[in-house]
Amino acid sequence: MFVAHSIEELVEWRTMLETPWLLGPVLPAGAQRIGFVPTMGALHDGHLELVRWARKDCDLVIVSIFVNPYQFGQNEDLDKYPRTFEKDLALLEKERVDCVFYPSEKDMYPRGRDAITSVVPASPLNDTLEGAFRPTFFRGVATIVSKLFCLVQPHLAYFGEKDYQQLQVIKAMVKDLNMPVSVVGVPTIREEDGLALSSRNAYLDAEAREIAPTLFESLFHVMDAARKNKPMSTAMAEARAKIVDTGRFELQYLTAAHPETLAPLEGDFARPFVVLVAAKLGEVRLIDNLVVR
Ligand code: PAF
Repeated sequence: MFVAHSIEELVEWRTMLETPWLLGPVLPAGAQRIGFVPTMGALHDGHLELVRWARKDCDLVIVSIFVNPYQFGQNEDLDKYPRTFEKDLALLEKERVDCVFYPSEKDMYPRGRDAITSVVPASPLNDTLEGAFRPTFFRGVATIVSKLFCLVQPHLAYFGEKDYQQLQVIKAMVKDLNMPVSVVGVPTIREEDGLALSSRNAYLDAEAREIAPTLFESLFHVMDAARKNKPMSTAMAEARAKIVDTGRFELQYLTAAHPETLAPLEGDFARPFVVLVAAKLGEVRLIDNLVVR
């Protein structure tokens, strides 16, 4: 596994792919499908699932590890974001990743993060739901992902459905800007009790961990109610009550929406739809979603 610590090293590796005789036996004859998994490190099984999908579809798999400061809000603690580089490398080695791109902040934002041409996703996708609570988040994500796409030049790029709105933002960006990459959404990996895997779960204490699956239970309640043709307003009120009645969550939103535009459903359930939730459990902010087809 090659580790590129800078843009220069990545470009060198990428150039060798264009001139495969330089790589010798590393590259299977005629193979050229490059799969890309962008991450911020602190890898868990959810990330590794993205890598496994890429490994299954592609000849070469590249993973980036970059804690992108541009997508953190002023009140969000960038310094506290977990950094576990050596452990991440060992996990990626086991998954037979070909290249890890691990650039520095200076490499990605040479003139500082406030002096960069940015990619601003279109409204309302940019500013509803997550965007309403984290106003500059999707600009930061879209900007870094487009930089990474330009550098890595993958054929396929893999994103988790766990960050559902992020996935829709990236799909819309790729379509609107005619980027030559196929975006693949990978289903969420869950613990046995339904809790979606997330780097933030590590911050939950034992008591919080026990009630955290309430979020998934409330999403499941909405799906079940839709399947039983219950009125949407009743189903949503019951699902919200499940969360609020624990007395522990600060519910930020629970919304049933169109699966691509994320425009809230009006009147009653229409198929397919997605139900999305965000809530704070103490200091830990959790998000989850379920697509109902
Ligand atoms: O989902 C993430 O980990 C990040 O938002 C991403 C896509 C790697 C961009 O920094």
